[in-house]
Amino acid sequence: MAAQSAPGTASRGLDAVHAAIARYYTATLRAHGATPNGVDWANRPTQELRFVQLLKICDFTAPFSLDDLGCGYGALLGYLAWRHPGTQVNYLGVDLSAEMIAAARRRWRSRRNAAFTVGHASPRRADYSVASGIFNVRMDVPAARWRRFVAATLDAMHAGSRHGFAVNFIAPLPRGATGSAGLYRTPPGTWRRYCEQRLGARVEVVKGYGLREYTLLVRRN
Ligand SMILES: C[S@@+](CC[C@H](N)C(=O)[O-])C[C@H]1O[C@@H](n2cnc3c(N)ncnc32)[C@H](O)[C@@H]1O
Repeated sequence: MAAQSAPGTASRGLDAVHAAIARYYTATLRAHGATPNGVDWANRPTQELRFVQLLKICDFTAPFSLDDLGCGYGALLGYLAWRHPGTQVNYLGVDLSAEMIAAARRRWRSRRNAAFTVGHASPRRADYSVASGIFNVRMDVPAARWRRFVAATLDAMHAGSRHGFAVNFIAPLPRGATGSAGLYRTPPGTWRRYCEQRLGARVEVVKGYGLREYTLLVRRN
């Protein structure tokens, strides 16, 4: 795993991984448009079920800034307006796919307090950061390099979040079961320990919400 380091430096050598991710999701967007399928989700209810878990990191009793890493077409903005209309959220969506960001900007062009940028890390420090689904599709990237990508991304999210961040992962299959190749499945302990020991954070594991996934809520000590 990569050592904890300043944002940007830990991601050195990951350009090919970032480029492969951008190509993959640009293709899903071209095939399905700015829809849940267009960001490789099965449907909107499960997309939003993930938002429910991730947003547990935020305190909705006061205004806050939020970075959405791997924002896709910005579906989280619609969810925030629907479920949390009373809280002012200054939102920044970041995505590796330039076409995804162009779609997000078109969709939310009249939205105040929202901006989008292309990249693999946020250019600012926000109160909170979330990332939904960005570690799931490993494609044919070697496992060790993918773990380096995950570590570098967690380092950057931690550095860029004043209070905390939240991410989700796919849980391992039961023994003997077979699933789609190219997905990254990992037990909660690996990255929980990383965030506790390397980032010095407090970690809560949220699971049992009806998907074979879990969410890590990572709070600054
Ligand atoms: C599964 S989609 C989810 C989109 C959105 N979070 C949602 O739930 O609707 C993952 C998105 O993250 C982007 N992505 C993956 N890894 C990323 C990274 N390290 N930095 C920025 N964007 C990333 C992809 O381009 C893709 O648009």
